Amino acid sequence: MAGKRIVVDVLNGEASFPPPIWMMRQAGRYLPEYREARRQAGGFLDLCYNPDLAVEVTLQPIRRFGFDASILFSDILVVPHALGRDLRFEEGRGPLMTPIREGEVDELDGEAFHVNLAPVYETVTRLRKELPDETTLIGFCGAPWTVATYMIAGHGTPDQAPARLFAYRAPEAMRRLLNTLAERSAEYLKRQIAAGADVVQIFDSWAGVLDEASFEAFCIEPVRLIVESVRREYPDVPIIGFPRGAGALYDTYRARTGVTALGLDWSVPWTQARKLQAEGAVQGNLDPLRLVAGGRALSEGVDAILSELGNGPLVFNLGHGITPETPIAHVEQMIARVRGASAK
Ligand code: CP3
Repeated sequence: MAGKRIVVDVLNGEASFPPPIWMMRQAGRYLPEYREARRQAGGFLDLCYNPDLAVEVTLQPIRRFGFDASILFSDILVVPHALGRDLRFEEGRGPLMTPIREGEVDELDGEAFHVNLAPVYETVTRLRKELPDETTLIGFCGAPWTVATYMIAGHGTPDQAPARLFAYRAPEAMRRLLNTLAERSAEYLKRQIAAGADVVQIFDSWAGVLDEASFEAFCIEPVRLIVESVRREYPDVPIIGFPRGAGALYDTYRARTGVTALGLDWSVPWTQARKLQAEGAVQGNLDPLRLVAGGRALSEGVDAILSELGNGPLVFNLGHGITPETPIAHVEQMIARVRGASAK
């Protein structure tokens, strides 16, 4: 299979220039065809749990832009949902859940976990059949810490204060919650791989709000458990860890979790990024607002990534998800600039 799916080879440490490219949240509201499918589905979760529609929206950015990788369309919060926690998405408000209390941590109901997630596995199976052979299929889950922050607060917050307070007041309950999520997320990823995912990514969007001790206990340790469990069964499947905002702690994260490749956000300095890249592939890290701005801000951002990281194993991506106000023409400009670049 070597050479067939370039994103897999690069994640395994092979340098390739121009680098392969995809975008976090590449299926989404910036695309009119996504907004139409979303309208037909009714709610966001109906889109996630309907394989026909989930396959359709996953393929939309591949058809339009020909990205080198496709990411399963779903959400990180389907895991707590499948464990019996309620979940709603309201237009303009994001996810809403009933906040979990300390006493409920040991009552998470895993009985129907894989039955509840069966539509996701079916989506992955169908995607692998429908995607072009050379397109890498990425499965994903949220990191336990990031998933827990939404379970505890019940909604998005600017700094995840409710989850941090929970962790300080009830560290043992927090550890048990994260352990359960880690075990279940590992099973979830393994099922996605069995269904046809070539790569998996662990999204830890809120890794950046923790102090060093909490980062080790609540971010690194559960991700390490997931990596260990997935590797035992699938030693060759690349695992991308994305601890957004981890700053200087990116180094420890790579060393201690054992992920194959690191997703970098745009705040990581080049010296650190190159050091990290010397130990394995990196993915990222354009500021999504450069993509909104377009013009010189975009060209300069793309060029900087290519010249600083283009000599090593790099998967070109954004430093976080694309935002709904992004003009499609700017996405085209970005792809053309990456694909048209010549090696220095
Ligand atoms: O990347 C992709 O195209 C795959 C799909 C994907 C979605 N969410 C679809 C989505 C992925 C990988 C995610 C991950 C996710 N979900 C994360 C981690 C990555 C990140 O962006 O930080 C988080 C924290 C969530 C939880 C979540 N889902 C939030 C906070 C929100 C609301 C914010 C928003 O953008 O509206 C969502 C909703 C969501 N997930 C949308 C999409 C396309 C928009 C909902 C809609 O269509 O109405």
